[in-house]
Amino acid sequence: MAVLEIRKYPDKVLKQKAAPVASFGEDVQRLVDDMTETMYAAPGVGLAAPQVGVAKRIAVIDISTKGAQMPLLVLINPVFLRKEGVIEFEEGCLSLPEYTAKVERAEKVAVRFLDRKGKQMEIEAEGLLAVALQHEIDHLDGFLLIDRISPIKREFFKKKFAKARKSGK
Ligand code: NI
Repeated sequence: MAVLEIRKYPDKVLKQKAAPVASFGEDVQRLVDDMTETMYAAPGVGLAAPQVGVAKRIAVIDISTKGAQMPLLVLINPVFLRKEGVIEFEEGCLSLPEYTAKVERAEKVAVRFLDRKGKQMEIEAEGLLAVALQHEIDHLDGFLLIDRISPIKREFFKKKFAKARKSGK
């Protein structure tokens, strides 16, 4: 296993719509292992393949670091079956270091996905896990949390980012 480099905003791979996974061979197994190790090393509660430069529909989530009883979740080609309610949650992202923002998400979700062996699974989630699922699946469609905040907040983020870049931070 290896810790991979995490791509940061404004890397173009983060804006790309990732392609579905069609085979579950060694390359996918290795990528899942490397993504998992990269997520734990960061540390983060979730990581999507585009964040390590691979435009494939793969994400890993582990919210047990936040105190929840939940094993590592490997999601391949995930799709929402249901979204219910509204929750506002302070989110961060490994591709947007030192930035957090309150984001509105569905409170409860149901997701269908394939596990790392290609077996079809379903999960229902609420709270932090529901938010993590929406955040990571967003990555697979080329969306970052800054695409989910108000235009005013987004402009503010972009100005701050441009300024930080100028001053070499
Ligand atoms: Ni993220």
